[in-house]
Amino acid sequence: MTAKIIDGNALARQIRSEVAVRAAKLVTAGCTPGLAVILVGEDPASTVYVRHKVKDCEESGIRSILDRLPADTTEEALLARVRELNADPSVHGVLVQLPLPKHMDSHRVIEAIAPEKDVDGFHVSNAGALMTGTPRFRPCTPYGVMRMLDHAGVKLDGVEAVVVGRSNIVGKPQAMMLLERNATVTICHSRTRDLAEHCRRADVLIAAVGRARMITGDMVKPGAVVIDVGMNRIPDGPDAGKLCGDVDFDSVSKVASAITPVPGGVGPMTRAMLLVNTIEAAERAAG
Ligand code: GUN
Repeated sequence: MTAKIIDGNALARQIRSEVAVRAAKLVTAGCTPGLAVILVGEDPASTVYVRHKVKDCEESGIRSILDRLPADTTEEALLARVRELNADPSVHGVLVQLPLPKHMDSHRVIEAIAPEKDVDGFHVSNAGALMTGTPRFRPCTPYGVMRMLDHAGVKLDGVEAVVVGRSNIVGKPQAMMLLERNATVTICHSRTRDLAEHCRRADVLIAAVGRARMITGDMVKPGAVVIDVGMNRIPDGPDAGKLCGDVDFDSVSKVASAITPVPGGVGPMTRAMLLVNTIEAAERAAG
């Protein structure tokens, strides 16, 4: 079998154009949607991510407010800035780029964001809302994965779904979203005994571990749908520096029925879903 490629770039483009239509409608009604992005320090990967977020906003008719704070900013000063943005009615979404410098408590900072502006969906009240079946903002990466599965026509009701990874940002909310759709969900992690055996049972396999090419063809059930959330740089060897996912694309694409590529899979969808959450925040605020 040669797997069908689920094209994240194409679907993200379509979603961005839908967001642009909604943004234009809001502007006509007198409300310009606004997203504030706070970057503390100079982490190179975070700097690139934030630049992309600002560019996406510009292209979709969302006003972006970029706050670049020095790495030695105190936590109190960051919290004060978050509170200021919470109180600003022209700002509908507030995002603090992670990771934060070591002297800051990320949990405390995220909890300071007003839940109705938490477009990352990381606030404990948004995580709880997702868990109890009343979602407000869904974290962008797993939300994007769900959109890709739906777009590819993947049936979820009653299927075996295996999520490899248990982070608060991807693994756990992903499991909740799959459960919401009546999949039977298993969450695997670094302490899971016989990971390969769990993976081989999956009709839908989501890899979000952060280890280059760790899911290989022999770990995948023939015909399974495989979603690769990983984004790794290969440290050495002939492919050194190249971007790759958690899935060994060459071997898995011979076994799976559908697969997402890296790059061009989940990554652009994460960015697109941030725009969707922001436009939803603005629409709710506009009434
Ligand atoms: N760092 C890596 N991914 C993300 C994300 O989705 N949101 C935020 N705020 N920081 C991140």
